[in-house]
Amino acid sequence: MVARVIPVEAFDLVIFGGTGDLARRKILPGLFRRFQAGQMPPEARIIGAARAEHSDDEFRALVADAVAEFMPKAAQDKEALAAFLQRLSYVAIDAKGTQGWSQLKETMRSDVVQAYYFSVAPALFGDIALRLTDNGIAGPDARIVVEKPFGRDLASARALNETLAKHFTESQIYRIDHYLGKETVQNLMAVRFANILFEPLWKSEYIDHVQITVAETVGVNGRGAYYDKSGTMRDMVQNHLMQLLCLIAMEPPYHFDPDAVRDEKLKVIRALDPVQPQDIVRGQYLGGGGEGSYLEDSENPHSRTESYIALKVAISNWRWKGTPFYLRTGKRLRARASEIAVTFREPPHSIFDDAEGWRENVLVIRLQPDEGMHLMVMIKEPGPGGMRLTQVPLDMSFATALGPEAAEVPDAYERLIMDVIRGNQTLFMRGDEVEAAWAWTDPIIEGWEARGDRPQPYDAGTSGPEDALMLMHRDGRRWREIK
Ligand code: BG6
Repeated sequence: MVARVIPVEAFDLVIFGGTGDLARRKILPGLFRRFQAGQMPPEARIIGAARAEHSDDEFRALVADAVAEFMPKAAQDKEALAAFLQRLSYVAIDAKGTQGWSQLKETMRSDVVQAYYFSVAPALFGDIALRLTDNGIAGPDARIVVEKPFGRDLASARALNETLAKHFTESQIYRIDHYLGKETVQNLMAVRFANILFEPLWKSEYIDHVQITVAETVGVNGRGAYYDKSGTMRDMVQNHLMQLLCLIAMEPPYHFDPDAVRDEKLKVIRALDPVQPQDIVRGQYLGGGGEGSYLEDSENPHSRTESYIALKVAISNWRWKGTPFYLRTGKRLRARASEIAVTFREPPHSIFDDAEGWRENVLVIRLQPDEGMHLMVMIKEPGPGGMRLTQVPLDMSFATALGPEAAEVPDAYERLIMDVIRGNQTLFMRGDEVEAAWAWTDPIIEGWEARGDRPQPYDAGTSGPEDALMLMHRDGRRWREIK
């Protein structure tokens, strides 16, 4: 099945931090892919902005290198790449000073969509927002895009929101959580709300528990200094895992519309119970096999920052009372594997004698790699041996069901940047949502800091610390294997 491509309106997209890591890895290669797919109208332009002096051609060469490095397959299309590069220009700009702003003003057109991507440290958000508005550069419908980390606690997130609100309205602010741009994450909403099949069972009466796993094989080397101040709770749970939890747990919105969806997610976050110390396991990876330990990678030999966390979370509302959500995520684990597994309860009464063969129904939503879904169901084991039960998957891997093109899932950033141009905020976080997520996260972090807890060491290449297994075992449950 070939994806339908609907071109977006003409735009001027300015990327502050246009030569930085995120721009090189994700934003610019992602824009090239959208160009290649035919989604960019001929009038679309992309303007890199950063402090260093570069000519337009130097910036283009840098982008060509980035595309070759991070999207080597796409970069083979030399003709398309050359045409794409013609859309690019560069302005040297000082976020805290006067240099470059009048040039940027001359560059921007007022009759196309204006988008400003703040791919810079949050400390610069206020300076850039101020100069864009004070210099009369940003038009009344301009959009700004901001990246995580959006604050490191409730107070700093609130301060950032207040700073941005001085210059832009909420409907102009696009806070990115790139997990929302992942194809399967959006599919979660399609599965829940475009089918009658699951929704009647989607409650604690029928669902025993939910597991959300985001396992990574990478460590933190190269970004240890940032990571050590953040840790897994702030880097992954407060945003990405929280968003996944919301999409699983939220009530059906009245429409697939930005505020309708975000209102429902917000209600879930507000209904989260505080997490008790016995329901938290934190870990730190050890070295081995030529790879450094967390303590080496973070260059902080005394660090108590976690590179792994597992939590048992309860949602206090009618739908979910009695159904725990188990969340875990970590670095240097056995495999890169992210999935959500919804485990259903036992049938109320079994008419079969084969109690041993029975297993729970599980709906597994696989985010990465091999995106897809499968539903584990019980059937009769084939053969004349009587009524023996066995479990099989009803499998819907996207690559098999939709053809090989579907396996070429667009990167989350491609989708999200196009949504900015389209003016659709559904997959972006609203200010109150981010604050509510921090309001839940803060006491958890403050709790372990006050207790002086140390993370448990775990061997790289495993599924994490032993205690994380116990978190489930003591409830008579087990984690799914990471593979
Ligand atoms: C980022 C985190 O937001 O997400 C990283 O800062 C993490 O630490 C990354 O590795 C994971 O994203 P993905 O898309 O590779 O699952």
